[in-house]
Amino acid sequence: MHWIVCPDRQAQTKACAAIIAAQVLQKPDSVLGFATGSTPLATYRELIDLKRAGVVSFELARTFNLDEYVGLPIDHPQSYYRFMWDNLFAPLEFRPGQAQLPNGMADDLGAECARYEREIESAGFIDLQLLGIGHDGHIGFNEPADVFSKDTHVETLAERTIDANRRFFATRDEVPRTALTMGVGTIMRSRRILLTAFGADKADVIREAFCGPVTPRVTASILQFHADCTIVLDSEAASKL
Ligand code: F6R
Repeated sequence: MHWIVCPDRQAQTKACAAIIAAQVLQKPDSVLGFATGSTPLATYRELIDLKRAGVVSFELARTFNLDEYVGLPIDHPQSYYRFMWDNLFAPLEFRPGQAQLPNGMADDLGAECARYEREIESAGFIDLQLLGIGHDGHIGFNEPADVFSKDTHVETLAERTIDANRRFFATRDEVPRTALTMGVGTIMRSRRILLTAFGADKADVIREAFCGPVTPRVTASILQFHADCTIVLDSEAASKL
């Protein structure tokens, strides 16, 4: 694993954006894996600035998102589809079809998971996957479990994750209980991984995931076995290493 510990959040953001931009500069038709949540937001703003400054073009890139809630229509303010188009894809002037997310409204969710997995495979798998990390160690929505999941699947969200996501919804009851997520196997097939975190509240899980044993009880710990995984932290998230 490669570690980049930054003095503050701004440097953490710039480091992540630089790694993603460099990937696209080296391979303009890169297949990128993106995440939602608070962690990547500032990185996405930085990528938009780099695109507007003419430093990098995403015209030939394709993207796959990690996950999507089950049962939220794409125009719901909290759907991950909407989050990505508002915060990254529209400002980057993506064409329809350039970006893919699993469809959490599909009638047959099992068939949708299989379709998503096939799409990733036929794109030649993901060149660079951006990841955040949940307080319980989840990556994508792969919650602590007895075994690592293989492929894209329907996941029941942990109570702690529902609590964490509650902040985006009017009531706790409105937070979806299930999501479609790339599996741990899907994520591990990415050629490069960029996991990032900031803030003191992530310090414990960063230590557990990367300084402890590899276990499906802390999903992100599997990344210790990835051949090309970079971890970018601010000093607070790194404070318990
Ligand atoms: C989101 C995702 C999740 C988040 C994680 C951290 O697509 O896959 O694993 O990365 O829950 O969320 P934030 O960044 O909001 O702390």
